[in-house]
Amino acid sequence: MSSNHYDSLRVPDRTGGVEADDAVTAVAHPNIALVKYWGKRDESLILPVSSSLSMTLDRYPTTTSVMLTPRASIDTVTVNGYPAAGQTRERVQRFLDVVRELASRSECARVQTTNTVPTGAGLASSANGFAALAAAAAAAYGLGLDPRALSRLARRGSGSACRSIFGGFVVWHAGIGCGEAGNRSSYAEPIDAGGLDPAVVVAAVDTGPKPMSSRQAMRRTAETSPFYLPWIESSVTDLAAMRTAITRGALATAGEIAERNALGMHATMLAARPAIRYLSPLSLLVLDRVVTLRKRGVAAYATIDAGPNAVVLCARVDAPWVAETISEIVSFATIQTAFPGPGTAVPSRGGGMISHRAPGKLFIAGEYAVLETGRPAVIAAIDRYATVTVTAAGALAGTTMQSDLASGSTMCCERVGDRLRPVNCDAAVRGCFAYVMAAVVVVDRLITERGLRAHHFHLTVTSTLTDADGHKFGLGSSAAVTVATIAALDEFYELDLSLMDRYRLAMVATIAVRPRASGGDVAASTWGGWVAYSTADRDPWETTQHHQCSQKKAQVSAHEPRSRHVALHRSRRP
Ligand code: PMV
Repeated sequence: MSSNHYDSLRVPDRTGGVEADDAVTAVAHPNIALVKYWGKRDESLILPVSSSLSMTLDRYPTTTSVMLTPRASIDTVTVNGYPAAGQTRERVQRFLDVVRELASRSECARVQTTNTVPTGAGLASSANGFAALAAAAAAAYGLGLDPRALSRLARRGSGSACRSIFGGFVVWHAGIGCGEAGNRSSYAEPIDAGGLDPAVVVAAVDTGPKPMSSRQAMRRTAETSPFYLPWIESSVTDLAAMRTAITRGALATAGEIAERNALGMHATMLAARPAIRYLSPLSLLVLDRVVTLRKRGVAAYATIDAGPNAVVLCARVDAPWVAETISEIVSFATIQTAFPGPGTAVPSRGGGMISHRAPGKLFIAGEYAVLETGRPAVIAAIDRYATVTVTAAGALAGTTMQSDLASGSTMCCERVGDRLRPVNCDAAVRGCFAYVMAAVVVVDRLITERGLRAHHFHLTVTSTLTDADGHKFGLGSSAAVTVATIAALDEFYELDLSLMDRYRLAMVATIAVRPRASGGDVAASTWGGWVAYSTADRDPWETTQHHQCSQKKAQVSAHEPRSRHVALHRSRRP
């Protein structure tokens, strides 16, 4: 970590403790096109020359919150905790101008986005970025848009973003005409996936910057490539055939069409004047390997966007084998597997989506002394946060948890009686969710004790306590995640917990994962500001019974210890 990360830290002016985030927050996932969009007939409205079709993925969500700042004179944009500059900022501002015009409003906004597509995943993030921004900004400015209208809006940020509004397989209709007629008729909608159970294996072979932006490359291809119009014509046929293949659940046919459509798109670019070449020798190696897989009887098909990285479509059951085979030839490539994912979670302020954030911390003094009962430490909360967002989910969806601290992976859980059990992931992924899961389990116990029923939900963790690659800075991300999870579930179940209750529950969860934790970080994340802290006497924490916030049978109870050794003071009141 560079020293700059520390330079920018401060103890927040207002109470930095766990707080409801009054911004509107939306979560969107990337999509991968199986029939590509390449070329615009209207650059300002982003109307495509041909229709396209994609699959939304279940990994790498982007979480974006938008808060109106009526007294500000400029929009502020932060990406992964850092102020955005240059083109990124301008693009967001231009998009907000579109939203403001639609809403006939003029207020500036604060946009905070956390993108979990890891550097090197080989997936563009503009689709999920603008889908999440469209959903959050539309709600913040009071535009009551239905999903189709939202897809039109997202399209204005980045064409492919309109498809990320929906989950699973999605078609983006090119529409007819220009101007308003074109705008109205160009939108995305989901299609039935038939019996398909697909996966995509993403092979990121080269993660350097693109030689040319998609926008410029599309323009040059359309203007100069003699193969462009024939490819557009074949794309129309490809789309019709792809829709039929998907509805029938015919993976091999869908894969063949996806591969030929993508290679055709790259052929048009190679024929542009001057040529545009996104493919690298390593891309061709992956394509060769996919052919070898097919010769061995595995239905695997490659598609490649405007870059060198290949995405291989295959059946879910074949994904581990495909991933292994590709990693054999390009051992340094980042190989990751994804499955069909959800559409953009569209928020309603104060409604379906609950978002709480808790700050990280820095020990100012006594980091090691505090491990001994009664010895003091001084801790300051910092202006970097873990944000936990909870949305209710149906029984079919089960409970899912997603975290950028776990490289964007999803952990799906089922309820067996009153217990929550992970179903889909290995020990490494479960390890990444240890604190979230411990917090969920503690709240589960509490609601059982109160005679309430647990519900399914979708929980997303985003954090500015790590760098862009997800590496922790050591600023208390685990405590912040635990505290934010407890706070979000407190609101979700309407438990009406005090800050002390939340602290105790977060301590119970923390001790379940890390028995010797001092809890200083938990206190700083709960109250924020400056905290003078000394650790409780362990015995009463572990052995005495009671407290309304704990389950009596629980091994570690959330209660106020009898010992007077706990001293918890704040310098600022909430
Ligand atoms: O939406 P854009 O401007 O990022 O362009 C996306 C273009 C491709 O990814 C190459 C194809 C597609 O349909 O997503």
